[in-house]
Amino acid sequence: MGETVKMQISPADADVKPFENRGTPSDPAIIEGGASTSLKHESARMHVSGEATYIDDMPEPRGLVHVVPGLSTKAHARILSLDLDAVRAAPGVICVLTHKDVPGHNQVSPVGKNDEPLLAEDIVSYYGQPIFIVIADDRQNARKAAQLARITYEELPAILTIAQAREAGSALVWRPLEMKRGNVDTALSKAPKRLNGSITIGGQEHFYLEGQAALAQPGEEGEMRVWSSTQHPTETQHMVAHVLDRPSNLVTVEIRRMGGGFGGKETQANTPACLAALAANATGRAAKMRLDRDDDMIMTGKRHDFVVDYDVGFDETGHILAVDMVLAARCGWSADLSGPVIDRALFHADNAYFYPDVRFRSEPLKTNTQSNTAYRGFGGPQGIVAAERVIEEIAFATGLDPLDVRLRNTYGTGSRDITPYHMTVEDSIASEIMTQLAENCDYRARRHALRASNTHSPYIRRGIALTPVKFGISFTATHYNQAGALVHVYTDGSVQVNHGGTEMGQGLHTKMVQIAMREFGLTEDRVRITATTTGKVPNTSATAASSGADLNGMAVLDAISKIKQRLVCFAAEHWEIAEGDVLFLPEGVQVGEALISFPALVKAAYFARVSLSSNGFYKTPKISWNPDTGRGRPFYYFAYGAACAEVAIDLLTGETRIERVDILHDAGQSLNPAIDIGQIEGGFIQGAGWLTMEELVWDKAGHLRTHAPSTYKIPACSDRPRIFNVSLLEAAPNREATIFRSKAVGEPPFVHGVAVLQAISDALASLNNYTVCPQLDTPATPECILRTAERLRALPVP
Ligand code: MTE
Ligand code: MOS
Repeated sequence: MGETVKMQISPADADVKPFENRGTPSDPAIIEGGASTSLKHESARMHVSGEATYIDDMPEPRGLVHVVPGLSTKAHARILSLDLDAVRAAPGVICVLTHKDVPGHNQVSPVGKNDEPLLAEDIVSYYGQPIFIVIADDRQNARKAAQLARITYEELPAILTIAQAREAGSALVWRPLEMKRGNVDTALSKAPKRLNGSITIGGQEHFYLEGQAALAQPGEEGEMRVWSSTQHPTETQHMVAHVLDRPSNLVTVEIRRMGGGFGGKETQANTPACLAALAANATGRAAKMRLDRDDDMIMTGKRHDFVVDYDVGFDETGHILAVDMVLAARCGWSADLSGPVIDRALFHADNAYFYPDVRFRSEPLKTNTQSNTAYRGFGGPQGIVAAERVIEEIAFATGLDPLDVRLRNTYGTGSRDITPYHMTVEDSIASEIMTQLAENCDYRARRHALRASNTHSPYIRRGIALTPVKFGISFTATHYNQAGALVHVYTDGSVQVNHGGTEMGQGLHTKMVQIAMREFGLTEDRVRITATTTGKVPNTSATAASSGADLNGMAVLDAISKIKQRLVCFAAEHWEIAEGDVLFLPEGVQVGEALISFPALVKAAYFARVSLSSNGFYKTPKISWNPDTGRGRPFYYFAYGAACAEVAIDLLTGETRIERVDILHDAGQSLNPAIDIGQIEGGFIQGAGWLTMEELVWDKAGHLRTHAPSTYKIPACSDRPRIFNVSLLEAAPNREATIFRSKAVGEPPFVHGVAVLQAISDALASLNNYTVCPQLDTPATPECILRTAERLRALPVP
């Protein structure tokens, strides 16, 4: 791998015919061998017809009650009095519960920090924190009643922003991490050129289409069954058990699918699930909590916003010599996943580049805001935005094309292959991918033409940028890198696949079905995937870190292999042939000279009392990580890609239009090209939305003012690039032994949005004849673009 990177060539007429090069066969249902084909998403038809069942679509059990939270209206305060009489007396209200009614532990910290009460006790720590729940016969009644609470507070000093937290010397929610190699101070002082600066990177609301939702149903002798829109059923199970003071074996959590999670349901689904279970336990009736969109946005944590300070040494030829960065993040009122998220920002603050001497330090700051959490990329994108700012700074300081600075600094061989966390990069293909993409999308010529056209365009300025991604695959918490599966073959030859991963639209279940199809030689209609439940596969990890297919795919394969081995063994004995003469083919099972159907083999095996069901297990090899020393191999491998974006900005309104995007992405030997391309397109759009239009605004009281689609703008169909070419890197099997040599694809493409930010910056740089780095912060909204333009115009033009 490395010397011959082949790719699917973008069509020459890309400008004329957008959306052509999708890699999707015209008849996606055609199967060739099961895996590595574009089988359509198992729920695609139901998604578009509206038949797919989400929690709130489930038939409601008799006597169902509805749960609505009462939220704090102070960012930091002591509760002096809590008068809920009017709430209790409101129409339809069955009961009202506070922290005093929690039978077990009033705690939902996912990292064992005990810093996250389920319902506030005497202190509220952010505007939007649940203080009580109203349980009523209907949702509207519960919502109206929740407004009737009379709460008096004694206000305490609230720390809302990164700047305030730093100034106040605010507490950290997690141990700070330091990664270093070499001697950065010496290297910086010796460098021929040196500069420093700072970038502010905004947060992001998940805006999953299905909001947080849970339905709890009490059973006999303390059993509790919970349907939860969760990425992490096992953790939800543990939390519910903990809150109710029950052993885990009484709690079952199930999820068929989420209407999007994006990291927002990795831990933050626990609170609605626990509150629904609390209500079900108190009333003895089924209880549902389906958050109103505004409450969802006000209550739940988001992507961390960052301020990154950088100090970098380099030479006249654009070679980076030393990088020193401090990455400060707004974590919110509790730890949640902030520790690992900020760590991952550090793991990616090199992006695809080798820094000879380097030091990264984190500041996970506690603030009186929502507890920020996982969000696609898990901090990685923030680190990469900072890395690309550094590249841009060097490009302006040296007069080089940023692409050349990138190509000059990518990981290489010999002494240029060590990351700041001392892991060797064995397969740096970032520069090959960038070079190929640049050729294929004609980057150099277009950049030249665009610069020329900008000189006589007073209001519309165009910009172009080509950025890479190198993304580490594996949970950095090593123990999370395990998975289980349970596969049943029924006597009619139909197969049921269960595994620990959850489906949130990313196509994980489809990929798992493909594995069973390929291994048993079956068609799609013979393989059924079931809802994920803690009752079938226990002790699972979150479906996160893009590892769903890697981990669960191998566990499913393991389970299937065990069943196949038993069938092979049986057939060899039964028909007196060699084990090697039993083959599972699409046309049936080859048994010596004969071809029999899969159901016939299965039935014969059943009568011979052969077990047709098996579990499976997998753990990722090779990985380790020690945060105390900042050393290890936290990632099994890296996924790569590059994106080239061209934008036009309007200097009168500040608006941006994405004119064209070309992406070349490495999904290894793709398990399903159509689904992977969908992930790349969706990830790119979500990344571009984060960096250009999605803006979270809190007022001085700590109230999130952008808590609905009316004030918080996510990309719409009209915001997509006018021309959008996405290709998978071809003939690029994973060098590590992952499931059929594929690579994880869920998060890495999110980073491609960075190309849009850099292209906007390039367009703005035209204002000063490309001599000054625009130092554009994010999100680069129209307001931000106009402000930056104004600042640049005020500078003397050389
Ligand atoms: N794609 C869709 N359609 N919906 C989602 O919620 N979540 C993303 C990504 N792609 C998401 C998605 C995130 S944050 C992750 S970690 C991965 O999918 C998780 O799934 P995987 O591990 O199976 O790729
Ligand atoms: Mo994804 S942020 O790891 O759920």
